[in-house]
Amino acid sequence: MAPRRLGSPSFVVPWAATLLLALGAERALALPEICMLCPGSVRDLSQVTLYCKRTPELMLHSRCCLNQEGTIVGLDLQNCSLKDPGPNFPQAHTAVIIDLQANPLKDDFAKTFRGFTQLQTLILSQDVSCPGGINAWNTVTFYKNNQTCQGQRNLCNSTGDQEMCPENGSCVPDGPGLMECVCADGFHGYKCMRQGSFSLVTFFGILGSTTLSISILLWGTQRRKAKTS
Ligand SMILES: *[C@@H]1O[C@H](CO)[C@@H](O)[C@H](O)[C@H]1NC(C)=O
Ligand SMILES: *[C@@H]1O[C@H](CO)[C@@H](O)[C@H](O)[C@H]1NC(C)=O
Ligand SMILES: *[C@@H]1O[C@H](CO)[C@@H](O)[C@H](O)[C@H]1NC(C)=O
Ligand SMILES: *[C@@H]1O[C@H](CO)[C@@H](O)[C@H](O)[C@H]1NC(C)=O
Repeated sequence: MAPRRLGSPSFVVPWAATLLLALGAERALALPEICMLCPGSVRDLSQVTLYCKRTPELMLHSRCCLNQEGTIVGLDLQNCSLKDPGPNFPQAHTAVIIDLQANPLKDDFAKTFRGFTQLQTLILSQDVSCPGGINAWNTVTFYKNNQTCQGQRNLCNSTGDQEMCPENGSCVPDGPGLMECVCADGFHGYKCMRQGSFSLVTFFGILGSTTLSISILLWGTQRRKAKTS
């Protein structure tokens, strides 16, 4: 029997798991970059402040309202010379309320709201349209200096997901005016035509690919050594 050598796969796996855990913990503690995109903190009379103070578990940090897990539920980037919300904007996809008024935004930022399925109140300047258009929202209200887009509509209901999604997929909302097709349980791939479990592959694909390649490498070298000895 070949002797067991240091660096065999069983040593690598726990080490990698510890590292991943440590990285995860660090990410949870740090304030998301999008909260610091604009200087200062949220104004006292902002809708985001009012929303945040209404619920005791929520806290204001820079431009964000966070829950106890550090998840963004409110974001206020008003009056900060933004032409677009920037590459970190998707960090706020969990937000229920967002204020972007008094910014020189370009009117083509609808796509940046992909995945913002929780968003119920969006405050904008009057010169840009609510993302997804007027039909994507329950109410759009114009005020003197701003407008509010209120309550996302579920477009899957109106457009009929039979036409849009394949046989073994179904339509789910994916932000204002946006939807996507999700394959039914046990289906995956192009047009949801492939059958079989996919979740295990995804798991390994994200977490384990590095670990796995190191393990295979070590396994290979070890086997070669075992043969020559
Ligand atoms: C926007 O910010 C500037 C300073 O950066 C301030 O003078 C101005 O009053 C602010 N406007 C609004 C509407 O808050
Ligand atoms: C919108 O602008 C009006 C002034 O026209 C102001 O009173 C109101 O607070 C603003 N709304 C929000 C949500 O900031
Ligand atoms: C979908 O529409 C039906 C009637 O058209 C309604 O009863 C149902 O509540 C709607 N569902 C959603 C999720 O909007
Ligand atoms: C959808 O699933 C059923 C079995 O549940 C299967 O018979 C059918 O061929 C599938 N459709 C497609 C387009 O893959």
